[in-house]
Amino acid sequence: MANLQGYVKPGSIEESLSSQIDFTRLPRHIALIMDGNGRWAKARNLPRLSGHRAGIQSVRDVVETCARLEIEYLTLYALSVDNWKRPATEISGLMRLIIEYMNLELDTLIRENIRFRPIGRIEQLDPAVQQELQKGVARTAACTGLNFNIALNYGGRTEIVDGVKRLLKESLAHGGQIPAVDEDAFTSYLYTAGMPDPDLLIRTSGEMRVSNFLLWQIAYAEFYVTETLWPDFRAQHLFEAILHYQRRERRYGGLSDSFAATEPLANQR
Ligand code: FPP
Repeated sequence: MANLQGYVKPGSIEESLSSQIDFTRLPRHIALIMDGNGRWAKARNLPRLSGHRAGIQSVRDVVETCARLEIEYLTLYALSVDNWKRPATEISGLMRLIIEYMNLELDTLIRENIRFRPIGRIEQLDPAVQQELQKGVARTAACTGLNFNIALNYGGRTEIVDGVKRLLKESLAHGGQIPAVDEDAFTSYLYTAGMPDPDLLIRTSGEMRVSNFLLWQIAYAEFYVTETLWPDFRAQHLFEAILHYQRRERRYGGLSDSFAATEPLANQR
């Protein structure tokens, strides 16, 4: 069971919020669209990259909080396949930040038993970035705590196309036999093979968009949008998101329990 003792200060807003969380009903997988770095920087007359740099502290905070809460999976959206349209200096700056993050945080990830995995078209990234990411994957491979995914050069549609390509390649290797495919089988061709779908999808900065993130996997995720910009996002905001999630009734296309219970049997046929 999650233990936040010594992590949240007595009498703090974090303590008050976390004391309301039902630790037996936590989301297994939290997905997060980190948005608003540019606006955070603009409001301070700083270059956009300063917003991304400030966002690294939020990454640290959220990873640590999820680990303490014993959340099983956390997936952060760091770079989409469409972000290459941004100025080259912003992209190269982001790549540097990722290398820096891996260098600074890898020991902490290992110490905290956190398993790191990048998802996306990683093979198209700069070799120096790939090398750092691979090091992170290899050195945390035996960790059994939080599974921490970073989506990099990631697109939800791209992931589905890549999955179809893998499936076709496999079928060609088996003499062109088309395998029996259903929804469960197809998920094994996705970057997230073997992981549960996100239960909770958080987006910062007030934008109401999915932005090509985990399109297949979020079919039944609960969506939570906060006005908070990513560089300001801290444990407190994560607790708020989880509390909202715990107030939702998840129906997966079915009926609400209370509605089903009050409906006369004859009408249910
Ligand atoms: C969106 O804000 C944010 C990004 C495109 C990049 C997010 C990346 C980081 C926080 C650093 C990643 C590093 C690690 C280690 C995970 P935006 O620039 O679109 O903001 P705006 O909408 O206000 O312009």
